[in-house]
Amino acid sequence: MERKAMIAGNWKMNLNSKEAEELALALKKGLDVDLKHEVLLAPGFINLSIVKKIIGGLPILLAAQNMSWENKGAFTGEVSPIQLRDIGCTHVIIGHSERRHVFGETDVIVNKKIKAAIKNSLTPILCIGETLDERENQKTYRVLETQLKGAFEDLSEEQVSNIIVAYEPVWAIGTGKTATPDQAQDAHVFVRKELERLYGDDFAQSTRILYGGSVKVENIDQLMAQPDLDGALVGGESLKADKFLRVIHYQ
Ligand code: 13P
Repeated sequence: MERKAMIAGNWKMNLNSKEAEELALALKKGLDVDLKHEVLLAPGFINLSIVKKIIGGLPILLAAQNMSWENKGAFTGEVSPIQLRDIGCTHVIIGHSERRHVFGETDVIVNKKIKAAIKNSLTPILCIGETLDERENQKTYRVLETQLKGAFEDLSEEQVSNIIVAYEPVWAIGTGKTATPDQAQDAHVFVRKELERLYGDDFAQSTRILYGGSVKVENIDQLMAQPDLDGALVGGESLKADKFLRVIHYQ
């Protein structure tokens, strides 16, 4: 089954409005509009509308990095799925490792947010991944299995049919220590098997699994050559236009 690749840039808590505007303009200028795969940008909340204005009309998708599971109300400091839709987001990153490990997001919270995203027609990009300690103690598969099961709790195959999964080993994020293509492929095969166990073969074969963690110009081509890597979720390297453009146009 053909899976359309996606290269996504997670800008995290970086860039002021002027810098975000400049980066979006440079990407717009350098993008091959006939690209066969998808490109997605995830700026911080305050830069979403600035970036949307620039990429509107281009084949670039817009995502938020997080959101509330509530639609509206007295939730100081939160941003709702309705607000994200209103500003032009089509996707939302859920359960990023920084949300899980710095802000204490649990699988229960991740599940609530996935449900809220789906209810509001936002495509979730579900992030999962093990820490170094878990990998060294042979717990990688168990962690991935638990995170997937938790995220998909009480959701039907139909509800999650468009979901995107991102495997981001915590030890590879922002460390310059990329998983080798073999390590990434191995984890992706495991994730796909788990997806099959949860929802069957069709679902597993059609669901895109992105890799994230120190994706760079130097390693994108080898990573994307792996059969079960359907794209990349790029942090640091997505902040520099020339580098991110090379990652987007991988070979
Ligand atoms: P880096 O590419 O900076 O390692 O970040 C990866 C990431 O967390 C993307 O969501």
